[in-house]
Amino acid sequence: MSHAELLDIATEAARTAGALLLERFGTELVLATKSTPTDVVSEADLAAERAIREVLARRAPDDAVMGEEGPDVGGTSGRRWIVDPLDGTVNFLYGLPMWAVSVACEGLAGVVYDPLRDELFAAVADGPATLNGRELRVEGPSELSQALVATGFGYDPARRILQAEVVSRVLPRARDIRRGGSAALDLAWVAAGRLDAYYERGINPWDVAAGELICARAGLVVERLDPVGELPWGVLAAPPAVAGELRALVT
Ligand code: IPD
Ligand code: CA
Repeated sequence: MSHAELLDIATEAARTAGALLLERFGTELVLATKSTPTDVVSEADLAAERAIREVLARRAPDDAVMGEEGPDVGGTSGRRWIVDPLDGTVNFLYGLPMWAVSVACEGLAGVVYDPLRDELFAAVADGPATLNGRELRVEGPSELSQALVATGFGYDPARRILQAEVVSRVLPRARDIRRGGSAALDLAWVAAGRLDAYYERGINPWDVAAGELICARAGLVVERLDPVGELPWGVLAAPPAVAGELRALVT
């Protein structure tokens, strides 16, 4: 399958889920909690993932699938889809306008779709990153002190203590910090130049699979961060001039 076909499948899946989420935005309730009492799931998460898996089963039946809300499905093609049907679930449930659908065919194609703004961030491995078809190319600031840095926090209180220590090192050195509540949208917005950099440890592959590719194709340095002590692996995305300084503070 060509990259263009994979991108078309990702787009159909993300737009289908996005339409369904839009209908429910503002009226959704917590259905259950997962890893901790603050890690919530709603009917909307489940319905959106079902819709994405239906598109993938129809259009890419030989491919493996990993999704936040369902079991891993094996495949025979060597390709794997990594799906977050609703990234920013807490925002969604509070009626805050920072949430998105993330659909990636690992390393090959990815989209982050923001239904409220009808913004589709997309990339393929051998093409440019785009926002609604317009090419994204980031230059970014030349030093961390000028950079608006996004990050996020996990749901486990013990992990948050460690994440707070890291952010306390970054905050005095950056222009400022943003915690938007959706890792996928954070990455997409870095690619669009609305934020300058992003880092977070303790995320899951579905939070970042599409956003990493979009940032890389927009010209950003994108790295996986190794675990440090009790903090798991993470992701850093930053302009080349800022990546080294940020890496040194979060490592
Ligand atoms: C979360 C968001 C958040 C990030 C967390 C993720 P969810 O995903 O991306 O910004 O800080 O690490 O778990 O729970 O809203 O799908
Ligand atoms: Ca997520």
